Amino acid sequence: MTTKNFFDKQSDSTAVKIKILQEYFKGYLPKLLLTFGNCLVADLFCGTGKNGKEDGSALIFIKEANNFLNDKTIVKKQPGAKVYLFFSDGDKQNIKQLKQNISNIEKNDRVIIRRKSYSFDEIFNSITEKLKEAKIPKFFFLDPFSYASFSMDQLRQLMNLLNTEVLFFWPYNEVYRFKTMQGIEKYPSLIKFLQEFTTKGIFDYESQKEFLNSIKEKIKHDLQIDLVRPIEINAGSTKKCLFLLTKHWEGMLLMNQIAWKRAEGGSSVSIRKMNYKQNSLFSKTQMDNLTLEMREFEDSLKDFLTNNPNATNDEIVYFTIKEGFLPRHIVEIFNKCKWIEKVIPISKSYKKGLYISADTLRKNKRFCKFRYKF
Ligand SMILES: C[S@@+](CC[C@H](N)C(=O)[O-])C[C@H]1O[C@@H](n2cnc3c(N)ncnc32)[C@H](O)[C@@H]1O
Repeated sequence: MTTKNFFDKQSDSTAVKIKILQEYFKGYLPKLLLTFGNCLVADLFCGTGKNGKEDGSALIFIKEANNFLNDKTIVKKQPGAKVYLFFSDGDKQNIKQLKQNISNIEKNDRVIIRRKSYSFDEIFNSITEKLKEAKIPKFFFLDPFSYASFSMDQLRQLMNLLNTEVLFFWPYNEVYRFKTMQGIEKYPSLIKFLQEFTTKGIFDYESQKEFLNSIKEKIKHDLQIDLVRPIEINAGSTKKCLFLLTKHWEGMLLMNQIAWKRAEGGSSVSIRKMNYKQNSLFSKTQMDNLTLEMREFEDSLKDFLTNNPNATNDEIVYFTIKEGFLPRHIVEIFNKCKWIEKVIPISKSYKKGLYISADTLRKNKRFCKFRYKF
């Protein structure tokens, strides 16, 4: 599908992107509104709000915000809760069409919508300037047609704002074998991108996974943040990717849960194998046998524990979430591989058990450390 007819019909990879965005936003919004009472969403490449008959990002944000603000729990606990939605797109026609599409749906008065036609570079400075001191939690969704649409420095400036998360979506189907690519010198924006966004630069990556990992490590390094997560969307010749950048482990945990429900090995949604419109597409990943990803995780867990011999239960849980896995995976590895020699209590309230769950972080439960046999 070319960029020209993007809005005529929703492609398979766009449908998966929207599904993941919707699931994430659905899980993320309640946590924010119950804690802060408001939040700001900025969809800065918003399009028209529709892809053919299906909802695009803008309508998904509006509908989910409506649903949640009408929810009995939020009405009771945070009666004044508000969601501010800002939509912008470089194409005036798209914003006009978005206005039309928004007028066709119901809106709660506490969903406050602004839309403007600006290019990303035009709007960027005024947004970062206006939000410099703002404590309101902010969620930026960046969904351009091309990877060359924003810079690492712009990502850094967004993530430097208080209480901020960024979710971006990139097509990267062009290539990932770059060193031996004929005539790469004719593509200066590709060279600039590789130098700016990957640790290895112009290199023949062995797999998409290696390429995405190289981007992940570069973002972590340059932005000095721990929690960066790619999810690959593999639609045959079209390869795309969502990246979540967050400063809070709850955000990363939520995306990990979605990824482990939706993606093979927690990292790649393959559209050929799975039909996203049926539940079976996202069938539960088989965890009975240790998959390749689990074996790799087991190795990094061993490295972590070797370097941190006094690691406590909560530190192990944080490490696991940061690596893109779930607390249940640690229990699975411990049980399958029988590497615990001893659980050492460090708190009087310790009762026998592993205490490996997200609740250990949520409730700050530092109960025990483990002695491992390698
Ligand atoms: C992939 S579409 C967005 C789709 C939308 N998120 C959805 O879910 O329906 C990319 C959009 O980015 C806009 N765009 C491309 N380059 C831009 C730029 N530099 N600044 C602002 N908008 C841009 C295009 O007009 C297009 O509407």
